[in-house]
Amino acid sequence: MDQQIETFLRALKQYGIKKNIPNISPQLGKFLNNLVKILNCQNILEIGCANGYSTIWMAEAMDKNKGKMVVIDRSLPSLKAVKNNLAQFSFSSLIELIEGDAVHILPKFKQKFDLIFVDAQKNLYAQFWELAKNLLEKNGIIIFDNVRKFPEKTQDFWRLIENQSKFEYLEIPQEKDAVVMLW
Ligand SMILES: C[S@@+](CC[C@H](N)C(=O)[O-])C[C@H]1O[C@@H](n2cnc3c(N)ncnc32)[C@H](O)[C@@H]1O
Repeated sequence: MDQQIETFLRALKQYGIKKNIPNISPQLGKFLNNLVKILNCQNILEIGCANGYSTIWMAEAMDKNKGKMVVIDRSLPSLKAVKNNLAQFSFSSLIELIEGDAVHILPKFKQKFDLIFVDAQKNLYAQFWELAKNLLEKNGIIIFDNVRKFPEKTQDFWRLIENQSKFEYLEIPQEKDAVVMLW
């Protein structure tokens, strides 16, 4: 990875810790970055970006693949922060930022994605799953962050994915939490 981006990500993570911004872990960032490279993802959707820490991890790889990314967040201050943080990187022009509630935006999409990363309101995960699975390309992957940290919020989500057979899924432990990957 480019030295300038690596240094920027390290500083952004430290800033997030200081300001209590719930950014993903650097380990998950590295995982997503490598996944985008390995799968040669061209169209990525992110739901919930905060100040763009996870966005930049994925965008660095997406840029190498000559791909594009769509990012949804319902918080205007968050989107302003992402815009500022992306401004210095050439890949910012390949990222479309959409303000609003993903529950209302996802049904309007016509395009499909080969990677969808969800890190937004946990008690909407069941709804995000129902909506986002229709937007996956054949062989596309969807990843949900923090699927164990708030069990009372994600129980509907778990019920849905455990009671279906169309998608394979794999839970990957993450410190005191986990992500789940479906394809
Ligand atoms: C945990 S933070 C995302 C952190 C980010 N992925 C990172 O690692 O830097 C959750 C974000 O999801 C957004 N969000 C929560 N519910 C949402 C919804 N229904 N639609 C769109 N954005 C949502 C919040 O505004 C917040 O910025």
